[in-house]
Amino acid sequence: MFSRSVARALTSSSARYFSASAQRQTKVAVLGAGGGIGQPLSLLLKSDPLVTSLNLYDIRGAPGVAADVSHVDTASEVKGFAADQLDQALEGVKVVVIPAGVPRKPGMTRDDLFNTNASIVRDLAAAVARVSPEAHILVISNPVNSTVPIVAATLEKAGVFNPRHVFGITTLDVVRAARFTAEVTGATPNETPITVVGGHSGPTIVPLLSQSKNGKGVTGEAYKALVHRIQFGGDEVVKAKDGAGSATLSMAYAGAKFTNSLLRGLNGEKGVVTPTFVKSPLFADQGIDFFSSNVELGTDGVEKIHDLGSLSAEEQELLAACLPELKKNIEKGQSFVA
Ligand code: NAD
Ligand code: LMR
Repeated sequence: MFSRSVARALTSSSARYFSASAQRQTKVAVLGAGGGIGQPLSLLLKSDPLVTSLNLYDIRGAPGVAADVSHVDTASEVKGFAADQLDQALEGVKVVVIPAGVPRKPGMTRDDLFNTNASIVRDLAAAVARVSPEAHILVISNPVNSTVPIVAATLEKAGVFNPRHVFGITTLDVVRAARFTAEVTGATPNETPITVVGGHSGPTIVPLLSQSKNGKGVTGEAYKALVHRIQFGGDEVVKAKDGAGSATLSMAYAGAKFTNSLLRGLNGEKGVVTPTFVKSPLFADQGIDFFSSNVELGTDGVEKIHDLGSLSAEEQELLAACLPELKKNIEKGQSFVA
């Protein structure tokens, strides 16, 4: 019952599409599948009809999670891999989702996670480069503004970087923006899709409320409060969990949602557009190699990177605050690998 309703919620359009694509074999790996995000994400991916095979890997606990998730009554096959089976977990995968790494505690910034998570992500990316260099890599591990450049630089070093295949998942910011804007305007989240651009941390998160039918009506103090809530939604959860970690369930939902969008694009569905943090030309002339904006997803991953469209004066200010911070975060990731 649960799995079917989750599948329906996640894949309203993929379900429609499923009959045409059921024969496609899409193996997805989750690296960090035993964690707070990894477990519910694995469950949601098991409920996605576009996932035909699911490989769950973690340095601890993945075989148990796989045994549990494998009982869900959907068609996909689930396998669990122990700490010393990373290469086997990556064999033949088309999509690799990475939520491996430590989460924040109250008082920490995402950048405080860099020292631990940078090498975890680098080592996992090196394994993907070795075993499944064509795979699409979806990075959840924080700090995303640095971990995505780390993945790209690691693949580049191995001679297999394809900028169409590496994505930072910023979908949680998009999900929050829709939800929080709906709360302010009285509309439903469905009626308030908000494009969020930039990166994934505090001031680098730039919601473009002026481009939304309902969002553009939010002004003055309400606008400032809404932007702040979207930029610092992660802190809200970290504080409420009081030392037990950061967002896991809403992140699993966002991660499954983005994975489903990518799979729909890979399967040939047209017009799948969503914000994601990718190697981008938009601010490359300012030395900013990665940026999140609306991206069309196609049969080979990134199909088209959309520009930002017109921005309000407030949004131009937000963007001006975002760019220097983002540049610093990206360069930190790049120099870690160099
Ligand atoms: P968690 O501690 O609950 O789980 C992390 C898992 O990673 C653990 O099971 C751990 O064993 C595993 N792991 C550690 N090193 C590994 C390795 N080398 N290979 C495979 N697995 C490994 O943490 P969580 O709450 O699931 O968060 C994971 C990450 O996701 C954190 O960095 C967090 O900040 C980030 N996050 C990102 C977003 C986003 O919007 N992108 C949202 C929420 C959390
Ligand atoms: C989030 O936005 O919830 C995540 O990036 C986790 C965090 O550290 O806030």
